[in-house]
Amino acid sequence: MKQISIFASGMGSNAKNIIEHFRHDPYTNINLIICNNKNAGVLKIAEQEDIPYLMVKKSELEKPFELICLFKNRKIDLIVLAGFLLKIPSELIQAFPILNIHPSLLPKYGGKGMYGTHVHHAVLENNERVSGITIHRVNEVYDKGEILLQKEVTIATGETAKTLQNKIHKLEHQYYPVVIAEILKEI
Ligand code: GRF
Repeated sequence: MKQISIFASGMGSNAKNIIEHFRHDPYTNINLIICNNKNAGVLKIAEQEDIPYLMVKKSELEKPFELICLFKNRKIDLIVLAGFLLKIPSELIQAFPILNIHPSLLPKYGGKGMYGTHVHHAVLENNERVSGITIHRVNEVYDKGEILLQKEVTIATGETAKTLQNKIHKLEHQYYPVVIAEILKEI
């Protein structure tokens, strides 16, 4: 049985979608949710789904030795970032494979400050014709790990950050679990 830990800071629609995708998979278990925001929607999802969650502070993540021990004890195979806003320390990157999803076509609109609707506003302000999603491995350089999958969406006339976000979320929900399943086969 492969064990996943999902890290999320926000609404948690990707976390929920991943949980639903693997619910009936006898070989994959969502073992633990890590969150740094007590108001995050993902906490409600964890409760509804009866999945244990752990709140972490920035300082705990910066010195992640206890966290790494916990993950080793829980036999975590893969960490999946789903809208997690704190920086992942290199100790964790070296200890576990980590995936991330980003709501743009990296390397465009990646890096510091590029999260949530900031990304979509920047894309629209630059009059881009397409945007999309990037699923990538996490390495020490922010938003620069090996790209595993990218999918595009066309930007319509009159597109707003909100409508673009909805389109992007649909793509994320369609492809993130599929890529996770592929990566789990290699672990
Ligand atoms: C997603 O758009 C993802 O690409 C980004 O953060 C957002 C999280 O959304 N990393 P949700 O909390 O899963 O709804």
